[in-house]
Amino acid sequence: MAEIGKDILKAAAFLKQGKIVAIPTETVYGLAGNALDPDAVTKIFVVKNRPYFDPLIVHVRDANAVNGFAEAIPEKAFELMNRFWPGPLTVLLPRKNIIPDLVTAGLNRVGLRCPDHSLTLALLRSLPFPLAAPSANPFGYVSPTTPEHVNDQLGDKIEYILDGGRCKVGIESTIVGFDGDAPIVYRLGGLSIEDIESVAGAVLVNANAVSSPQAPGQLQSHYAPRKPVLIGDIPKLIEEQGSKSIGVLSFKKLNLASPVKKELILSPSGNLNEAAQKLFSSLRELDSIDIDVILTELVPGIGLGLAINDRLRRAAT
Ligand code: TXA
Ligand code: MG
Repeated sequence: MAEIGKDILKAAAFLKQGKIVAIPTETVYGLAGNALDPDAVTKIFVVKNRPYFDPLIVHVRDANAVNGFAEAIPEKAFELMNRFWPGPLTVLLPRKNIIPDLVTAGLNRVGLRCPDHSLTLALLRSLPFPLAAPSANPFGYVSPTTPEHVNDQLGDKIEYILDGGRCKVGIESTIVGFDGDAPIVYRLGGLSIEDIESVAGAVLVNANAVSSPQAPGQLQSHYAPRKPVLIGDIPKLIEEQGSKSIGVLSFKKLNLASPVKKELILSPSGNLNEAAQKLFSSLRELDSIDIDVILTELVPGIGLGLAINDRLRRAAT
């Protein structure tokens, strides 16, 4: 198992040696390495069992740092970065050559994000390079939102997990690219469309172009537990399960007539931010207990509800 601790100097030392360290962010835990060192980046792909066609997000200390890694940056990108960084926003920008091909999977844009977590910001400020970091889970599985989630799956492949507690947003960053100056959302995430539109005006959402994904977070089956996940009217779904052992993940409290083996509630008060924060840990919990099927329901499609529903649908595919 990896060591879990809060020692930024230790994490920095490993990273300077070209090693991989798990880091906390406000969205999910990342599996970080020196973004400018192809050998370190290769290790990330190997540890995660990630296909090389799936590019990595580069984490930077602030918006000024972006000028070192991207060029021809649209005005709207600056407006969004200035308003929402540090925060759950990734921008796709034309890359400079200092970013290795491996990081962008050969694409001409690089994904950049400044994460909102005090430990990781302090780490980034102490390093002379930015950090490439995908979510710290095996490819295709649910993202980790605690150090223990990372240790459970990748603990024997890395040496150190920087412990930043439970992630406060709980769902991955929203990915925004630009067509000229017009923002396009490629992945729904922890920054709501309403927030983006309040700064950038109307945006196009293109998070479902699954045939030729711009971002494999768009792959239909992704963020998926091992157990089957069914979405619908939960009481009705329960009736259809026969003798199966059932786990339920509901949005608010349900008054279920028939008993189920385990029921988890995303937000008893119906708060979408709370629901987003609990989503992945709840899916992991249900995936780890002795049940045959996970039954769940969509949440209201506003605010972070859009991203929650996106992840639920992919978990169910
Ligand atoms: O919240 C997050 O974004 C977390 C934390 C750790 O920052 N990271 C994360 O990374 O979710 P990952 O690798 O699990 O998902 C990143 C998505 C992938 O689907 C990837 O394809 C897309 O971002 N992406 C990264 N760089 C890209 C690029 N240059 N062009 C298109 N898509 C890109
Ligand atoms: Mg991921």
